[in-house]
This record gives sequence, C-alpha cells and structure tokens, in this order.
Amino acid sequence: MELIDGNQIAAAIIAELKTEVAGLTGRKPCIALVRVGDDPASVSYVKKKEKTAAEIGIEGRIHLPPVDITQEDLFALIDRLNADPGVDGILVQSPLPKHIDELAVFRRVAPEKDVDGFNTLNLGKVAQEDDTGFVACTPAGIMELLARSGTDLKGKHVVVLGRSLIVGKPVALLALQKKAGANGTVTICHSGTTNLPSFTRQADVLIAAIGRAEFVTADMVKPGAVVIDVGINRLPDPAKKSGYRLVGDVHFASVAPLCSKITPVPGGVGPMTVAMLMQNTVKAHRLNPRR
Ligand code: GUN
Repeated sequence: MELIDGNQIAAAIIAELKTEVAGLTGRKPCIALVRVGDDPASVSYVKKKEKTAAEIGIEGRIHLPPVDITQEDLFALIDRLNADPGVDGILVQSPLPKHIDELAVFRRVAPEKDVDGFNTLNLGKVAQEDDTGFVACTPAGIMELLARSGTDLKGKHVVVLGRSLIVGKPVALLALQKKAGANGTVTICHSGTTNLPSFTRQADVLIAAIGRAEFVTADMVKPGAVVIDVGINRLPDPAKKSGYRLVGDVHFASVAPLCSKITPVPGGVGPMTVAMLMQNTVKAHRLNPRR
C-alpha cells in the first residue's frame, strides 16, 4: 500500500506558484476571502488560505461580515468585490448561515473571479471540457493527486460516493473528460443508491465524498483499489487537546491495507484544495485585463 502524500504534492505546487508570482512585474495577484460568522471549521480553513496566499506572495483581503448579514448586503459586498479592479479572485467560504441562499451567492460572483469554480458558467465549462474557466478546488485537487501519483483513469471504473455541487458532480465530470489522465468509466452513488457496496466493490478508483465519518469499510472496497478520501469529519476525542480528532469518510485502519494507494486524513485531499485555490487565483490574475 502506498500513501498519497497530499502535503508533499501541495507543497510542490505552492513552490511552483511562488516562483511564478516572484517573476511577475506590477501588481501581485489578490484574493478576497469572505467568511460569514464563525463556524470553527470555516475559521480554520480561511486562516489556512490566508497563510498560504501570503507564503506565495498573493495578497489576501479578508472580509468577515456578521452572521446575521442579510442576503442583500452580502450581494452588495460581492458586487463591490466584482467591480474592484484590484481583486482577481473571490472566495465565499461555505457553509453559509441557513437564512442565506448559498447557490445564489455562488452565482453572484463574477465568472472571471470565481476561483472556487461554483458558479453556473464555470461548472458548465467543466461539462463542455473548456479549460478557460475555473475548476472547483477540491475536484481539481483530486485530479492533480491522481495525476501526480501516477494513476491514469483510462479504462478504470471510477466510483464517486456523493453528488454535491462542491465535489461529487464536478469530480465525476472531470474523471469522465476525454483527455489524458481521465477517460474513466464513472458511476456516481448517493443516498438514494440501492445496495451501495455492490457498486463500491467494483471501483478501481473510489472517491469518497459524502461527509460521513468512517463510512467506507473494508468489505466495501476491492483489493488493489485506489481510494481517495475527501471527508474531513470531527469525532469527539477527550484524549486530544482540541477535544476532537479528524477522520475521513473511509475507515482508514481497515481499508488501507487492502488498497494499492490511499490518501490519509488529514494530509491527503485537504492541502490540495488550498493549493488549487491559489493556482486558480494566479490564473485569474493572469487573465485579468485590469492587472
Ligand atoms: N467549504 C468546503 N469546501 C469549500 C471550498 O472548496 N470552497 C469554499 N468556498 N467553501 C468550502
């Protein structure tokens, strides 16, 4: 069994971006990071994004509107950032408070600044195999992990667990694309799937993105499979200083010995998501006519 080291692969991408940004003349790339309220996971993710941006030489502008901001005021903030010539990329951290229509917020971000890849145009470009748009960071990170760990999807059965807009649907489209490294035969399973293990057991590459702690157990995995664990779940653990431990959607201890390759949690997909956000921001800056 080989561990796919997301920290190491992300560090290589970050180093490449740092070199690219150091070579830029004029204004440096800039990302606006919007976090509404203080959900603990979101606080830690946005901090990590801010820190990584600084390390690369990307300017991070943090916006922390209060948890009770109205949808209208959040739209107004996004409109200002859309119009600001000094901002290349905009990220609105999900999840948003319940009273806000998250999809409407994602759609409000100008497509050319949508470094999260969640708006209609950019998701459509993934379906159309048009590389001029932005691919959502977690799916892009998964594809990069597969490519850089030498996993070609051609002729493979790729089973995706989960159909979310943020991971499941876009990663399934990427795995399906008719291009080098992809060309997978793709099945998407979800909460309405009957006899889910009968599908997961057929997977040459299993991508687990359902947000349920340690859901995938050894009996659900084909020996020799490549397993990508997208889950980041907090399980109470009084022995830890933080009071919790992070686990994926895969029961690592029982599944890992069966796999040819597997991503750990933490240290697998998570760091890649941040690296791809930075890559998208540098791309947005490169394409920004007001740079
Ligand atoms: N929440 C979980 N993943 C993501 C992501 O990729 N982008 C944003 N904005 N929020 C998230």
